[in-house]
Amino acid sequence: MCGVFGYVGDPVDLGDRLLSGLQTLEYRGYDSWGIALARDQAIAVDKRIGRIAGVSTALSGSDIGFGHTRWATHGGVTEPNAHPHLDCSGRLAIVHNGIIENHRDLRAELLARGHAFRSATDSEVVAHLLEEQVGQGRNLASAVANVFARLQGLNAIVAMDVVSRQLVATKHVSPLVAGSVDRGAYIASDALALRPHLDQVVYLEDGQLALMDRAGLRVVDRATLQWIEPARVTLDRNLDDARLGDHPHFMAKEMAEQPAVLERLVIHQRPQIEAMAEAVGSTPTTLIGCGTALNAALTGRYLFARIAGAGVDVVAASEFASFAPLLRPDGMVLALSQSGETVDVLEAVKAAESYGARLGAIVNTPHSSLDRLVDLRVLLGAGPEQCVLATKSYTAKVATLLLLAHAVRGSYAEGAALVVRAAEALARMLEPGSVAEIQQLANRIHSSDHLFVIGRGLAYPSALEAALKIKEVSYIHAEGFASGELKHGVIALVSDGTPCLVYAPADETRADVLSGAAELKSRGAFIVGIGPEPDPIFDIHLAVPETGDASPIVNALPAQLLGYHTALLRGNDPDRPRNLAKSVTVK
Ligand code: G6P
Repeated sequence: MCGVFGYVGDPVDLGDRLLSGLQTLEYRGYDSWGIALARDQAIAVDKRIGRIAGVSTALSGSDIGFGHTRWATHGGVTEPNAHPHLDCSGRLAIVHNGIIENHRDLRAELLARGHAFRSATDSEVVAHLLEEQVGQGRNLASAVANVFARLQGLNAIVAMDVVSRQLVATKHVSPLVAGSVDRGAYIASDALALRPHLDQVVYLEDGQLALMDRAGLRVVDRATLQWIEPARVTLDRNLDDARLGDHPHFMAKEMAEQPAVLERLVIHQRPQIEAMAEAVGSTPTTLIGCGTALNAALTGRYLFARIAGAGVDVVAASEFASFAPLLRPDGMVLALSQSGETVDVLEAVKAAESYGARLGAIVNTPHSSLDRLVDLRVLLGAGPEQCVLATKSYTAKVATLLLLAHAVRGSYAEGAALVVRAAEALARMLEPGSVAEIQQLANRIHSSDHLFVIGRGLAYPSALEAALKIKEVSYIHAEGFASGELKHGVIALVSDGTPCLVYAPADETRADVLSGAAELKSRGAFIVGIGPEPDPIFDIHLAVPETGDASPIVNALPAQLLGYHTALLRGNDPDRPRNLAKSVTVK
């Protein structure tokens, strides 16, 4: 989490440039922000609590500076804890993403040697350790290399020296991407922030160190400081897909993009899906992911069983370490991730690699760490997803898994037809009349404290995903359950008027799910049925077109819309829900 953006080069209106770069990265963390830039031989700093949108800074022209948008781990959300952090002399500043696991020992050591700390963060130790190294006559590159060797954990740091006019950056797992311009360079946590400025970028690898000054970007090996010719990647500079356009929020934009994303996916991703099907079809496969990606993986498990008659395992990436030793030598681990940067996913993939498993990914972000780690990938091609809540990446992952299961069975065209049918259904469900029904429902439930969602079979993971979507954006306590599990405890939570969403697809589970709905209703629940057909048990029926095994795709949209409109009624920002971040790069 945390976003980093920096520049060195010809003098520009840097305060504004840093703010607009950070704003692009705000999805990574948005509790506070800070920028620092050189004023002659001193460093000027502006740090604030809260969002960047709409703010301005008195810091203006400079030739070198950087900024940071924070998701607090160590130390509360305060201005002193916001980055950048300076050394005692005011010559050096740092920004950091990650967790320095041994920060307590390092801080104690530095305090004993007389350093004065201004924050409660783990990050500030880096500034003081660098101060000692530079004080001993080392240049910034070797100082950063030495200091980084002392840090435990998964970290990315960028250091600025106003004397040498350099930025130096290095990382372990946490992402950094940089590139040269005429007489200068940029660095950021995500290429999205660099797209307005650069045509080509370098994704920094672990063990590399980026040195940036008016000569541009150079990359060296962190251990030897020997120069490396890094791989350069050309960026797609079409910025339109990253802009909000006429939409009120990124969540609205990304929900609306789903039909087009799915229609593209069916055609463009076919070769990648068929290549992956060859591997998955002949190999015991474990799907891993976190959050929404885990719900997509669980859906995939049902799709594989139904369509391909094949069993796949599903494990939360954060829990994978317990199962990695059970991987068979011919096994495959298929990681699902929008960002390709979720640290638990990356760790799990590395663990799988150490046990000799074949590595695959279904990932949205090209050139992300996950994309670079695996042998086989399907790129979702859904375009940047900037709302913290995953919407289009979820339906694209589910569609990919459906197509993959069909490809394993040798019936890709059948799967493609289903996905296209689901895309058309989503387009109809996004029309104002259908959305108005959901707005009315949001009016009915927005002051509820609890909400439950049930589903069975293929609709069970849809219930988990619906509850996740609603709770993370509305802050209503929402839980998804397998409808058969109701009687084993959950039903004790239902009382008069409790809203319960019931997924009732037109498949073999419908009768049993309706029995569950009846049991809820007789305890006073307010039943919202989601499915192709109405039923007298429903207090409200949200009609979704019949799409067969593509039902998890269409089932996702009512919950996305309900979460969105409920959030608006409760005064929440749908794009930046409290306490969350889009890219979870810490454990
Ligand atoms: C965060 C996001 C979720 C996302 C999860 C996994 O929690 O807020 O929306 O599902 O991370 O992210 P990934 O990028 O790996 O899909």
